[in-house]
Amino acid sequence: MSETIRVLLSEEEVDKRIAEIAAKISEDYNGEQVHMICVLKGGVFFTCELAKRLTIPVSMDFMSVSSYGADTKSSGVVKIVKDLDEGIEGKNVLVVEDIIDSGRTLSYLLEYLRNRNPKSLKLCTLLDKPERRVVEVDVDYTCFDIPDEFVVGYGLDYAQKYRNLPYIGVVELG
Ligand code: PRP
Ligand code: MN
Ligand code: MG
Repeated sequence: MSETIRVLLSEEEVDKRIAEIAAKISEDYNGEQVHMICVLKGGVFFTCELAKRLTIPVSMDFMSVSSYGADTKSSGVVKIVKDLDEGIEGKNVLVVEDIIDSGRTLSYLLEYLRNRNPKSLKLCTLLDKPERRVVEVDVDYTCFDIPDEFVVGYGLDYAQKYRNLPYIGVVELG
């Protein structure tokens, strides 16, 4: 079986939209420092591209989470594989994700972070698949709403491949 990738969002479209969102975020934080939390691994490319374009002071930390497997995934339990290096109390936390799908990962993560008393807590995602939502999540900044197709690139993987594509593509199995 062969895989081909169809372009859904070109590199130019993605870059242009990230620049727009970065300008909006810079304006909204009004000169205050933002503490970006990148959700590994998928969030890593978007985090870097977004961070480069912010005009406010930025600090960064990284978390890695994984679902416990098919069964517990439906209960919304996620395992923290790598926790934050620094505390977030009193900080303007901006969680950065590549995609919100069922919402389980982020709903768990936002609750976990909220309990650590940040000054503010917002969520920024490159992609959102609203029709797949199982758990409600408040998304503050979305670059693109997309249909329910299997997408890769810009951090998103298919069996750990294609994260490095500089555009968003749809995997087509032939
Ligand atoms: C993917 C994606 C989000 C999450 C979204 O991560 O990067 O983090 O799933 O799904 P949800 O809204 O249904 O919870 P994945 O678990 O594949 O790990 P990865 O980022 O390392 O690829
Ligand atoms: Mn992820
Ligand atoms: Mg993945």
